[in-house]
Amino acid sequence: MNKFQHRKLESLFKRNKAWADKMTRHDPDFFTHLSKQQTPEYLWIGCADSRVPANQVVDLLPGEVFVHRNIANIVVHSDLNCLSVIQFAVNVLEVKHIIVCGHYGCGGVKAAFENQKLGLIDNWLHHIKDVYRWHKEEVDAQASTEDKINLLCEKNVIEQVANVCHSTIVQHAWNNNKDLTVHGWIYSIDNGILKALETGINGN
Ligand code: CO
Repeated sequence: MNKFQHRKLESLFKRNKAWADKMTRHDPDFFTHLSKQQTPEYLWIGCADSRVPANQVVDLLPGEVFVHRNIANIVVHSDLNCLSVIQFAVNVLEVKHIIVCGHYGCGGVKAAFENQKLGLIDNWLHHIKDVYRWHKEEVDAQASTEDKINLLCEKNVIEQVANVCHSTIVQHAWNNNKDLTVHGWIYSIDNGILKALETGINGN
């Protein structure tokens, strides 16, 4: 154990070593190859929820998907963090697909819907309250609270896809005829299945 490792977290370092050994056994050049470059075809914008890990739910290896996650997969026009990720992915990595992936039962969406007071995060979740306001009639028409929240989860994905499409980065890419498509997906935590919410938007 090195002096910076916390004793209680030792198991994570052990798991890491076992994982790295397993990957190398499977493909001796795996890390050497990856260390030289990354060429992912996809940018994943998803929720920070621990149950929705990008690589695992689409069964992709390290190097295959560029990832940005935040609470409730929100794309805010002035969020320098998210915009920087999109810009790097589109202009430098030249990804072909941007996937905004929400999930049913999202805690952030639920908190916004129920107007919970959680502190600083309320400001962030205000973006979802806007989405609720825009689709209030349709959401409120659902039978159960669970259905209302789940429909709001879907509406949130669609609105965030629109935000990605309207970003200067994606607009610029499309103006330059770049092959780039934006997708809106939703993930079911209770069965591990992804669903596309729209056919995929490109610049044409
Ligand atoms: Co969530």
